[in-house]
Amino acid sequence: MTDNGGRVTKDGIRIYQQSDFAGMHAAGKLAAEILDEVAALVVPGVTTGELDKFIEDYVNTAGAVSATIGYKGYKHASCISVNHVVCHGIPGSNIPQSKHEKKPRKSGILQDGDILNIDVTVIVDGWFGDTSRMYIVGKQKKYAERLIQVTHDALMKGIEAVKPGNTFGDIGHAIQSYVESNRMSVVRDFCGHGLGRVFHAPPNVLHYGRAGTGPVLEEGMFFTIEPMVNLGRPETKVLKDDWTAVTRDKSLSAQFEHSIGVTADGYEIFTLSPAGKFYPTWGG
Ligand code: MF3
Ligand code: CO
Ligand code: CO
Repeated sequence: MTDNGGRVTKDGIRIYQQSDFAGMHAAGKLAAEILDEVAALVVPGVTTGELDKFIEDYVNTAGAVSATIGYKGYKHASCISVNHVVCHGIPGSNIPQSKHEKKPRKSGILQDGDILNIDVTVIVDGWFGDTSRMYIVGKQKKYAERLIQVTHDALMKGIEAVKPGNTFGDIGHAIQSYVESNRMSVVRDFCGHGLGRVFHAPPNVLHYGRAGTGPVLEEGMFFTIEPMVNLGRPETKVLKDDWTAVTRDKSLSAQFEHSIGVTADGYEIFTLSPAGKFYPTWGG
């Protein structure tokens, strides 16, 4: 990389230096390793609170810091979003009643057939690693598996659009056109974000849009891509706890997230799974 780092673009996007990639790589690797290791615990009967406790302990044992504990008053080391929860599900709280449940589930206990996203952000030596992926509890339903596959593939199509000279609109367009060609919908209410030595920085990384629009990608930009895809309509609402976002039509929702950096000729994914389990990672 040319020694062109340390700047901020006219869109407010920080350009990092070659030497900064190592810090992001270490943070991303720990976050991904946690998502690898928690998979074995995702079985019917476990609570989302227990999964979060495992994650918090893992972060502490590694000598790292959770980015989410204390963030805007959030108290947990992960977000765990089950079934029609789009994102920001609070571990340990009740799982909102799905369309398929006859009575409310007054607990955070996972049951056969649930799908869930676990999202972890850690800080290692001041660098932020942010990643999430999907898990299936017990037996999988075909339509849920398809939603998860399309969401994963949409993320990867977005990542493949990352190289200097392309635009953020190219990323959004790649994701949206793939998702909609599969007759699913892209959530508009939440987006990816710049990160690095901070959790959330410019730009907003939209998961929809027009090719050739938006800021131009430059070597040294660090950001997340984290599409949320719904089987039904794209609209969401936030529940009374002020965090949990659900689909308005209660259709199932899925999400995958990577933290990446723009290199001279493409990208580096900082949050690759050390165990090769990013997708599919089913529970148990
Ligand atoms: N990790 C989430 C993201 O991808 C943010 C979670 S913030 C929290 O940006 F406070 F809800 F944890
Ligand atoms: Co993120
Ligand atoms: Co995240």
